[in-house]
Amino acid sequence: MTSVRSIRRVVWTTFLLINAPPSAARESSTAQTCALFMAPSTIPNAGIGVFTAINVKEGEQVGYPDLAIPVTDVDWHNGGNRQEGDYHWLWKNYDWLSSAIGHLSFEAEEVVACIPGVGAMPNCHFRLSNVRESFTKYDTATLHRSKDAGAGAISGYSGREGIALRDLREGSEIFVDYGEHWFTLRENVLGLVPVAESYTLAEPVLEKFHTLDFNGQNDAKADLWALIKDFSYKSRSLAALPRTIEASNRAIDVGIKETELEASIRSVQWLKQNGKCLDNLRPGMSSVDGAGRGAFATRFIPKGDIVAPAPLVHIPYKDALSLFGEMKDEDGFNILSSEGITIRNTSEVRGKQLLLNYCFGHSKSTLLLCPYGSGTTYINHNHKSPNVKIVWTEESKALIHNTTWLQQSVDFLEDQLSPGLEFDYVAIRNIQPDEEVLLDYGKDWEDAWRAHLKNWKPVEGADKFVDASQLNCFDDDECKGAHVVRTHAEQEVNPYTDNLWIWCYFSYEDEREMTWNIELDEWRNWGEFNGDNKFRYPCTPLSRNDASMVYSVELVVPVYDDYMAHVDDLLVEVQNVPRWAIQFVNRQYTSDMYLSNAFRHEMMIPDKIFPKAWKNLE
Ligand SMILES: *[C@@H]1O[C@H](CO)[C@@H](O)[C@H](O)[C@H]1NC(C)=O
Ligand SMILES: *[C@@H]1O[C@H](CO)[C@@H](O)[C@H](O)[C@H]1NC(C)=O
Repeated sequence: MTSVRSIRRVVWTTFLLINAPPSAARESSTAQTCALFMAPSTIPNAGIGVFTAINVKEGEQVGYPDLAIPVTDVDWHNGGNRQEGDYHWLWKNYDWLSSAIGHLSFEAEEVVACIPGVGAMPNCHFRLSNVRESFTKYDTATLHRSKDAGAGAISGYSGREGIALRDLREGSEIFVDYGEHWFTLRENVLGLVPVAESYTLAEPVLEKFHTLDFNGQNDAKADLWALIKDFSYKSRSLAALPRTIEASNRAIDVGIKETELEASIRSVQWLKQNGKCLDNLRPGMSSVDGAGRGAFATRFIPKGDIVAPAPLVHIPYKDALSLFGEMKDEDGFNILSSEGITIRNTSEVRGKQLLLNYCFGHSKSTLLLCPYGSGTTYINHNHKSPNVKIVWTEESKALIHNTTWLQQSVDFLEDQLSPGLEFDYVAIRNIQPDEEVLLDYGKDWEDAWRAHLKNWKPVEGADKFVDASQLNCFDDDECKGAHVVRTHAEQEVNPYTDNLWIWCYFSYEDEREMTWNIELDEWRNWGEFNGDNKFRYPCTPLSRNDASMVYSVELVVPVYDDYMAHVDDLLVEVQNVPRWAIQFVNRQYTSDMYLSNAFRHEMMIPDKIFPKAWKNLE
């Protein structure tokens, strides 16, 4: 641990809202026609994209909030580096760094979030980024480990919303800024996608080209442009040049950005013909006992219609989701590697990643398929009277589905570095607006769940457990009736349970005005990477003004050097901190998903549609 260098005093004044409520929450089940589509992206070779079919105003929500599923220490448990291809982990193209998601990063040493739903699908386009994704909120969906057998079986991170960054015209493709790393780290899969700098380099080339005199020979001009674009040494800046001579002529007048904007809008008619609706489902509290959240129809869906498309991320060997124990010495201490890292004990499987519960599999196969369609993670199980089923996407309706993969082996799938399978949730009877959408997860799942219910008993100490979410509130209204936070002195007498840790949110931008150290500039960039200028710090409440419900707190602010190495800590005292800026989190490895008795089971691909070629287990 580094030393504490100095104490500064700051007054908490302005700040940016964390988890700001959407300015216009979409009312349910009134929209007759689909407002959000999944369809081929306007970016060549970028696969599928997400499009709005209605005009959206800046600040409004796009689609419905998604769930984020934390995946913890996945490199450690797999004994390798997923980005370097040490093991097959397609989710690496879809998982988000947890720091961009919210409190989830506190769950483990290394956390990534799988966000099936709109979060996984929009393409990234630096110049056109038009939607920002909010932090998630965390709660246990009313489940408590002292009474609910479902505790720990669901992700508590919900409410990740897409918020329009500007007015969006109907037909616009949705672009989210994933950060440039997202592309540069995935070059082998995505190819050379232009990043911001590529455009800076491309523009002078475009201008230079258009000063050339072709003597009215437009064919020669077009040929030369095609030649430039086809140049076999590919680069990001080459990719940033407009595709066709027509687009390049237009770009000279209106700029590359405007031509791209024009090219990124499709007609609603086209979307209806070539896309699939993404907003038939919205989340809500499930009617299924112990299930937490569920998926509800936003409109009438006739029998036989697609309720939701589900592109699938494949995990060829489900062992990739195993959680192992550590190697211990005779005295019960962790054995460390020469780099000082704990070593996994592959003979001791302690459990499975929570992600397993959100994937489909089959008892005769090691393959898992994890849908990333919007809202589908919320669909609960009903064995007796489901109203949807899963079917392989028909070739004519395929967005990514490659039917030949159904005849290929699991080893073949292991070699496939981008998703190529897709199924649809199809209504097996008419579904009414606001009706809960339910799928039969299959007999194996049903049997496993029944056995779980029969054997389940609370873990020791469950009745005393207080989850961080029980103490949190997110805006002034919600905080009015909420628990006051005990000050440091009060905690000496009446401590919080060991799993709890207090963090405070504090806007950084404001700080910079106040002669902060230059090191903190690094932070600003980090904050921008998160899409927010606010940040959070470990925090000790010092005193509380009961009348105005504000606190004075002491923050521990780490300081980084030019190489982002943590070199120091500053103690900063901040006054007038509102209640909602003080947040409880569960310490690493203490939340419900780590319960030793948490239910884990994949959903089942029905025998009827399970391809024989994928059978690799007896
Ligand atoms: C590894 O796990 C196995 C099975 O639980 C156990 O018997 C063994 O002692 C463990 N080895 C070490 C070094 O911890
Ligand atoms: C589908 O997969 C096969 C391999 O089985 C591949 O040869 C083919 O190019 C793929 N089709 C498309 C349209 O990607």
